[in-house]
Amino acid sequence: MDWGLQNRLARFVKPGSGHTVMLAADHGYFMGPTRRLESPRATLAPLLPYADAIAVTRGVLRTSIPPTSDVPIVLRVSGGVSVLKEDLSDEAVTTSIEEALRLNVSAVALSVFVGAPHEHQSLVALGELVDAGEAYGMPVMAITAVGKELEKRDARYLSLACRVSAELGAHCVKTYYCEGFDKVVEGCPVPLVVAGGPKLDSDRAVLELCHGALAAGAIGVDMGRNIWQSDRPVAMIKAIRAIVHEKASVREAMDVLDGEKGRAPAPRRAAAA
Ligand code: R5P
Repeated sequence: MDWGLQNRLARFVKPGSGHTVMLAADHGYFMGPTRRLESPRATLAPLLPYADAIAVTRGVLRTSIPPTSDVPIVLRVSGGVSVLKEDLSDEAVTTSIEEALRLNVSAVALSVFVGAPHEHQSLVALGELVDAGEAYGMPVMAITAVGKELEKRDARYLSLACRVSAELGAHCVKTYYCEGFDKVVEGCPVPLVVAGGPKLDSDRAVLELCHGALAAGAIGVDMGRNIWQSDRPVAMIKAIRAIVHEKASVREAMDVLDGEKGRAPAPRRAAAA
């Protein structure tokens, strides 16, 4: 792997733990002003010190993240369809590699829609983005999107989608956690991070998801709604950091969340040391 590409990856996959806590905030590109992300700047500001990277579009980056911030950026570069359409798979690359370089991002990300009506165009777009990324030392993250078919999130489907993404050259893959997630990890030769999906019923369920994913071999999370739709988002991301970077159990992470034992993980920069 090229030095520049490795260096960009190491900005957010922390060399100390080999893990990452990415904060996903790219929902607006097809969902509009998602609940509690109506004002991205206000939502994200208190969370940035605890994120190893932030996943956003160029619009949110320009308007809502100070250019003086040192948080690594994973730039969403695919889009072209909104939640008003039934078929969400009709995406294309909407942001060029040159723009990604100008914005000094650490990786680019696009959705692939395996099995969906526009499977072909999304997979070809992934291959082309990897070619462009390799030319400039820019890592590419494939996101195994399921559109509105949330029931697709099982090990059989996700194993297929992750493996296809890796075979086409993705340097890492974002997917969903599921029962039998170790099989998904086993079949995917590049690192996996997990999304959280829609807000879960309890804080414990969020932490169990993170713990289960890490135990099965994910290198971290790229999570949005279960952090910033939480009533205590900063405590939640700290609790997730404890699991991802400090091998905390769910119970220990719950203590961090509740502030009971004061086990408060250091923010991003110190954690990377
Ligand atoms: C979809 O909009 C994006 O890929 C999200 O970044 C991804 O789903 C992670 O966000 P959440 O944890 O809210 O599912």
